[in-house]
Amino acid sequence: MIKQKKILPIDKFIDIALYDKNYGYYSKNNPLGKNGDFVTAPLISPLFSEMIFIWVISYWIKIGKPNKFSFVELGPGDGSFCKTFCRILKRFSEFEKSIKIYLFEKSEKLIGTQKKNIKSKNVVWIKNLNEIKNGPILFFGNEFFDSIPIKQFIFKKKQLYEKYIELDKGKFKKFHLKKTSIKIKKELDSLDLIKKFKLIEYPKMGLEILKKLIKKVKKYKGGILFIDYGYLQSKGIDTLQSVMSHKKNKYFNNIGKADITYLVNFQLLKKFIESNSLFLNEIVEQSFFLKKMGISERAEILSRKMTFKEKSDLYYRLERLLSEKKMGSLFKVLFANSENLKFNLGFK
Ligand SMILES: C[S@@+](CC[C@H](N)C(=O)[O-])C[C@H]1O[C@@H](n2cnc3c(N)ncnc32)[C@H](O)[C@@H]1O
Repeated sequence: MIKQKKILPIDKFIDIALYDKNYGYYSKNNPLGKNGDFVTAPLISPLFSEMIFIWVISYWIKIGKPNKFSFVELGPGDGSFCKTFCRILKRFSEFEKSIKIYLFEKSEKLIGTQKKNIKSKNVVWIKNLNEIKNGPILFFGNEFFDSIPIKQFIFKKKQLYEKYIELDKGKFKKFHLKKTSIKIKKELDSLDLIKKFKLIEYPKMGLEILKKLIKKVKKYKGGILFIDYGYLQSKGIDTLQSVMSHKKNKYFNNIGKADITYLVNFQLLKKFIESNSLFLNEIVEQSFFLKKMGISERAEILSRKMTFKEKSDLYYRLERLLSEKKMGSLFKVLFANSENLKFNLGFK
């Protein structure tokens, strides 16, 4: 593909680097965990998934305990979140009878890992969101949006250019700039992305998926809960980043061997969701959300029966989730709903 096209727009390049069926990063590796390249909140501590479980069951109660409730996890990674979720679910028989859990995953390799980790009659795997035919639906994605490729644009002498990458024999050669089409320029304009900044990041593929989620929750009623790292105010900087074995990597190096992500523009998601007439809670930081959900109290209860070593480990993990310098502030929580539910558990 790279040979045929010679140069590729950034999003196409990332898509191949991460998801190509034979050579893509997510198709070959299990990137998560100590032996992988990075860890996510469900792997840091099951307390994170417990808090989300409490939030989801509370949401189900709030919408009147519907006896058919679809819960969709977007990009479940190695299945850690869903494994904890299903373990707790067993204790809530009424909820267990109502819920159907859909796992929406692109990587065959990760589907294999998830199937090994999750054994529950409530869970099905889907490749297409149209396979969900029952509502209300709640979509949940932790670090999902940041794994969907983005486009980048650069302003030069009042002209807008899209950034392309050229590879030679699979290695980075140089970047190219191509004049942006009127169609794309209009899209950027409609999202209010063309500002004074020199660099613009546009999650075109991500917004296409989000649009599908919005359509679903409008049709069947329901909501979208996203947790991801990102910002509320754009600074117009290049946020593309890559990690390999828990260390920084230039995203155009080690293609297929390293993860590539970016910082999510929550202001843009807010605007997009509101312009599609969903109701949005005020976006909060992960530490605010988890504390409101009672994570510290839960840790305190668990720690009572723990040895000193176990306690230290528990609080070390809690600190990673909550600390401002770690995931606490950088990660944001967004909740949108088809109706004005006034459901502010975990929010302001
Ligand atoms: C960074 S991992 C997050 C894993 C997990 N949610 C966690 O918190 O541990 C991103 C996940 O999203 C999946 N993914 C990315 N793009 C996708 C898409 N378009 N459709 C379905 N899954 C996708 C990846 O394969 C992977 O499972």
